[in-house]
Amino acid sequence: MNIIPAADYQDMSHKAAHLMIEKIRSNPDMTLGLATGSTPKGVYDELIKDHMENGTSYKRITTVNLDEYIGLPPFDPNSYRYFMNSGLFNHLDIQQVNTHLPKGDADDINQECQRYEQLIKDLVDIDLQLLGIGQNGHIGFNEPGTPFTSRTHVVKLEESTRKANARFFESMDKVPTHAITMGIASILDSREILLLASGSAKAEAITQLVHGEANEQFPASALKVHSNVTIIADEAALSLV
Ligand code: F6R
Repeated sequence: MNIIPAADYQDMSHKAAHLMIEKIRSNPDMTLGLATGSTPKGVYDELIKDHMENGTSYKRITTVNLDEYIGLPPFDPNSYRYFMNSGLFNHLDIQQVNTHLPKGDADDINQECQRYEQLIKDLVDIDLQLLGIGQNGHIGFNEPGTPFTSRTHVVKLEESTRKANARFFESMDKVPTHAITMGIASILDSREILLLASGSAKAEAITQLVHGEANEQFPASALKVHSNVTIIADEAALSLV
């Protein structure tokens, strides 16, 4: 694992965006795996700024996101589809049909998981997968105990994960209880992985990721078996490493 230290959130976002932009420019047909949440927001702002100022094009780029809440339609401001459209896709020249997220309001959720996994297979590997990390080590919504062999599946969200995400919702009871997530094996199929972390709340998780053994109770540790992982973390997230 290659670790790139950053001073703070802004510096982490800048370094990650710079790395992504270079790859997009050298491979304008690439497939990007994307994440939601507070961590990648600054990266997306930088991608938009660069697109407007330097014209980096996303016309032939395909994206696949990690996860989506079950029960939220795409127009719900708390859905991940809404987050991605309003926070990134609507500001780029990307073709909406080439942006993929699991459908959280699908009639048949198990069939939706199969459709999504097949879609990832049909794309013949994600070139670069962007990841955040949960305080309990989750990646995507793969909570502790998820088999490293898992593919796209339904998860019951841990209370700690629901609480961490409650800040976006009116009240705790509005936070969905389930989500669809790419599995750990689906994530590991990516050619390259870029994991971002910022803030002291992520310090213990980053320490365990860097120093711990691969262990299904700590999902991010699956990345230890991948040959091309870069972590960009700020000082606070690296403070215990
Ligand atoms: C979201 C996702 C999650 C987040 C994680 C950290 O698509 O995959 O694993 O990356 O929950 O969330 P933030 O960035 O909000 O701290």
